[in-house]
Amino acid sequence: QTHKVGYLIGSLAKDSINRKLARALVRLAPAQLEMTEISFRELPLYSHDYDADFPPVATAFKEELAGVDAILFVTPEYNRSIPGGLKNAIDWASRPYGKNSFTRKPSAVIGTSPGSIGTAVAQQGLRSVLSFCNSPQMNAPEAYIQFTPGLISDDGEVTVQTTEQFLRGYMEEFAAFIARVLSVLPRDA
Ligand code: FNR
Repeated sequence: QTHKVGYLIGSLAKDSINRKLARALVRLAPAQLEMTEISFRELPLYSHDYDADFPPVATAFKEELAGVDAILFVTPEYNRSIPGGLKNAIDWASRPYGKNSFTRKPSAVIGTSPGSIGTAVAQQGLRSVLSFCNSPQMNAPEAYIQFTPGLISDDGEVTVQTTEQFLRGYMEEFAAFIARVLSVLPRDA
């Protein structure tokens, strides 16, 4: 059975290494996963003043989230946390009260950094946020990818075989996790 995965890339940078990682994950994902990017670039800064009347860009963002079976976060670490733009997007998605887009929506987190702990601290923070937002998260495998020059080409080709195998396995595990969660928590539950 095919499942739709929306992926959010935490970086807005043109030459983002996390965008390269996301491209690699799309290439390596098993055939039953249909991968689409969900962009948060155009969202204004959230305030609960918007709750009574969401702007179209935010409504469209929430509709995109509603249209997928699961969400993959591919994010850099900024100052030992997730980038502000990604947090802003999550805050939009979680509101208005009672319309949290993440409730019962399976998710997974992954990220890459030139640093040797490969976004581990940001991922821990993101996991707390997603727990509060009631998203069932894939606990394992974890994936902290240290980016070395040339590790992943611009179009997502992984040049180190062990890393390629690891990332393929990660996506296979995510597909299995999504299937397990949806078997007990169908999307319209
Ligand atoms: C960073 N970087 C960084 N790296 C890291 O491993 N831990 C960190 O806490 C930070 N903090 C941080 C803050 C800010 C504001 C910037 C711009 C960068 C370095 C970061 O990993 C590197 O710039 C990556 O290239 C960012 O990922 P993208 O944007 O290329 O996907």
